[in-house]
Amino acid sequence: MTKVFVDGREVEADPRDNLIEAARRIGVAIPYFCYHPRLSIAGQCRMCLVETSDAPGRLVPGCQVRVKEGMKVVTSSPAVRDNQRGCMEFHLINHPVDCAICDQSGECKLQDYYMEFDHQPSRIRTSKLNKPKREIFGPLVVYDAERCIMCTRCVRFMDEIAQEPQLAVVDRGSHSLISTFPGQPLDSKYSGNTVDICPVGALLNRDFRFQSRVWFVEKSPAVCTGCANGCNVYLESRGNLIYRLLPRRNEEVNQVWMCDEGRLTHHETNEKRVEQGDLARAIELLRPIAGKPGIGISLSAQCTNEEAAAAFDFGARIGAEKYFFTARLDGDGDDFLIRQDKNPNRRGVELAARAAGVTLHDSVEGIKALVAFRTDGLLLEKPLEVFIAIAQNQGIEGQVTLPCQSVYEQDGSVINYYGRLQRTWPGVPAERGESAPAWSWAERILAGLGIAGAPRSAAAAFDLLGLPGLKLEAIPEEGVVLEQLLPAQWPKRAPRPAGAAR
Ligand code: SF4
Ligand code: SF4
Ligand code: FES
Repeated sequence: MTKVFVDGREVEADPRDNLIEAARRIGVAIPYFCYHPRLSIAGQCRMCLVETSDAPGRLVPGCQVRVKEGMKVVTSSPAVRDNQRGCMEFHLINHPVDCAICDQSGECKLQDYYMEFDHQPSRIRTSKLNKPKREIFGPLVVYDAERCIMCTRCVRFMDEIAQEPQLAVVDRGSHSLISTFPGQPLDSKYSGNTVDICPVGALLNRDFRFQSRVWFVEKSPAVCTGCANGCNVYLESRGNLIYRLLPRRNEEVNQVWMCDEGRLTHHETNEKRVEQGDLARAIELLRPIAGKPGIGISLSAQCTNEEAAAAFDFGARIGAEKYFFTARLDGDGDDFLIRQDKNPNRRGVELAARAAGVTLHDSVEGIKALVAFRTDGLLLEKPLEVFIAIAQNQGIEGQVTLPCQSVYEQDGSVINYYGRLQRTWPGVPAERGESAPAWSWAERILAGLGIAGAPRSAAAAFDLLGLPGLKLEAIPEEGVVLEQLLPAQWPKRAPRPAGAAR
């Protein structure tokens, strides 16, 4: 470690730390716009300038200068404050100050720093420059050049992380703009991250724009259900609607990024839901056949571990003959985050099947009655005598369809493609009709048939997985790696557990 002094306080810093990170270790926030810990240093905004004992009499960029043994750093001298005020004034010269209609309002660094470091009326008496507004960059991203402070974070993200250079700085001086290449859209599968890292309201998410003020939504942790990577995310919800998904840091799963497809997975929670179900009718249909031959259970790779474990338990108690595995079809994948398997819990369903000692079949045949635990990818070639579906969205409906909660709405867990067991939480404040986790419908059907003993909570269903020493409530927020499931091969750039084979 390297010892430095920030505002007179001793700091044990990593020798690779720049001054911003060293100061952060003792809670001192050096303001910055263009610095991002994951991107190359641009030294573009000059907001981070501080004084150091190495360069007396001049200011140095805290993002660019690294710590040095014994270095003294001053973050709030009159000269530093003066620069911060000046920087803000320059950044705001042509800024339209249209916070009242800007989606970034409430989470904007320009707003926050104006209040903290500038807080003076504009001295500009000339007209502001007019620049392009509402320029559609691509399917997910819209650009407002007047709000842009030219920090180049978005350009660097596309070059360095997405590795698809689709943005550039064009024109000069105060006429500079961010632009896509002529005739080319910003259509990278990771384009939404540019919106997250844009410190101001210049890049906005077209799916979220004008839907809600950011201070009206509640933020809760979740795991993306868009593919088998299981990116850690935050849900932002109000009532029974999810408004947007944002990446949540997990170095071993998604670092601080997510893909665009994942960002849109909340629409399935919001739209075309099954909301009501007739439990009594489901029980009535099953009563004459319970314990008799010909019953099948299907479950999809969209089930949580608890729903899968409960499905096998349900099958055992009702005397099911066959079990069927359904899943969404594979899609595009890459060597970073996006997996071809578009199901969040294939590994979990397989693990639950092994724990139950059950063989999974791929196509639904040779049965008279079926109880489906989620219906994704379910194909029925001919009508069955009895078909009860526990389903989240409209589409495949049974004689009785019972409304299933989305993974974003329930307590439980899923396992990603490399065997990371991760927790899910109820992240939507208001209930959606009669919807409930599939394990809860299983328990209620069995109770109606007079069969007791089925799991009555997510924690009890989790225990059926037979994972020694693990309890649902004890799964840490960042998840647990089930070593026995780790793959031999890894996608080239994919984040992976510390110590896993490179
Ligand atoms: S669009 Fe945003 S991220 Fe890109 S340069 Fe402008 S302010 Fe920075
Ligand atoms: S890579 Fe997969 S898990 Fe991650 S955000 Fe995209 S769809 Fe979701
Ligand atoms: S953060 Fe250092 S110059 Fe922008």
